Amino acid sequence: METRTFYPETGTELVRRLIEGREEKYYVLTLGCQQNEADSERIRGMAEAMGYSAAEAPEDASLIVVNTCAIRRHAELKALSIVGRFKAIKTARAETVIGICGCMAAEPHMVEHIKKNFHFVSFTLEPNRLFRLPSLVATALLEGRRSFVLGEDDGTVAEGLPIRRTSDHRAYVSIMYGCNNFCSYCIVPYVRGRERSRESAAILEECRALVESGVKEITLLGQNVNSYRADMSFASLISAIAALEGDFIIRFMTSHPKDVSDELIEAMRKYRGKIAPCFHLPLQAGSDRILKDMNRTYTTAHYLSIVEKLRAAVPDIVLTTDIIVAFPGETEEDFLGTLSLIERVEYDMIFSFIFSPREGTRAARMEDLITEEEKNDRMARLLALQREIALKKNLSYLDRTERILVDSEAREGEGNYIGRTAGGKLVRFTDRESRIGQFINVKITKATPFDLFGEAIQ
Ligand code: SAH
Ligand code: SF4
Ligand code: F3S
Repeated sequence: METRTFYPETGTELVRRLIEGREEKYYVLTLGCQQNEADSERIRGMAEAMGYSAAEAPEDASLIVVNTCAIRRHAELKALSIVGRFKAIKTARAETVIGICGCMAAEPHMVEHIKKNFHFVSFTLEPNRLFRLPSLVATALLEGRRSFVLGEDDGTVAEGLPIRRTSDHRAYVSIMYGCNNFCSYCIVPYVRGRERSRESAAILEECRALVESGVKEITLLGQNVNSYRADMSFASLISAIAALEGDFIIRFMTSHPKDVSDELIEAMRKYRGKIAPCFHLPLQAGSDRILKDMNRTYTTAHYLSIVEKLRAAVPDIVLTTDIIVAFPGETEEDFLGTLSLIERVEYDMIFSFIFSPREGTRAARMEDLITEEEKNDRMARLLALQREIALKKNLSYLDRTERILVDSEAREGEGNYIGRTAGGKLVRFTDRESRIGQFINVKITKATPFDLFGEAIQ
């Protein structure tokens, strides 16, 4: 895989000169997953390199970027409705540049739709060409011309983009991009392209610099981190990061069950304390027939064997998962299989979604005979079961002292601060003073299915 440094991109200097001496501001709105949040930090970095400063609200900005998601129909509708609302800003101030990035900008039919119906949008930009943002802003400002960057991905990895991080103590580090798995329901391989990994040296240097600057939590990102392949495996990479000096924890997401190696599980055991004791392991369905139709390439038995190994290596590991409810052809029996697997594993948290057909994917062409009522009923049953399990899990934390990383002040609800345990559980707690960005000990005093509550130990 070729790695190229594209930055600084020519448009940056052009825009910088064009807006020099003016108080121009940017606004970035992010939808979708952590991958998009990480990309938005690069969008902010590029905007600042062009000379823009951050705006509090879109009305104050002359550069507005919407970073979109295409994973489900609902995500697309939300993006379109948000972009639609920005039309008034463009009408009030014609020089405003409005751009659409993210996964929706890599769907040909969506780009066509935006081209035809959203004339106030200056550009769309597919995620793998994010580094081209400054040149598109330059084109919009200089020529007033609209740009649509689609189908340019040539598999390269762009290094060196500026990043404006949103937190001083938590950081995302992308280690690979794209996906080769083609799960039959999923749009990601079409919009994010083929898998490509960053070189380990660049990743290690980024992590080292982050830890040195005081970052306490690093989350390694990729659609499928376990298939990281550069000059070393994912298990070797995470071990090398864990071996860096400093008091920090490492998280990673997402893992595909087919690629979870024994070496990774061993690394989690060996570097306990450095590698967070949590694992997001998407199951999707608890029926082998459905898993086959989903092209997930593992069986429920294989999945359970990974869970067993993880629990043996890291006994109090926090397990979370993704489930798709009502995949085409899912029978009541298949669904009961999913419920029974959930009961067996006892996840700390489940992200569950009703199947949403995505244009161009194989599952979108499968016959979907499940009624809306049945879909909602299955979802409700799953949520009710998970609520019980999550409550039981969280109650087991009562009276325990947990080392947590303090994230922010609590704006509402109980407690005056919010943080997360090493396992990733959210804790609302009271403290006498702000210790945001520090690891502190909190005694857990109350638990609900979704949150833990506690008091800081002074
Ligand atoms: N790369 C990650 C998942 C990214 S998408 C992985 O493989 O686990 C996050 C979740 O969205 C998926 O795990 C799946 O549960 C859900 N999802 C993806 N496509 C979907 C669709 N068409 N309908 C409903 N849920 C979907
Ligand atoms: Fe989508 Fe499957 Fe790739 Fe995850 S592994 S991004 S669900 S195709
Ligand atoms: Fe959405 Fe793209 Fe992430 S489709 S979930 S933003 S990879």
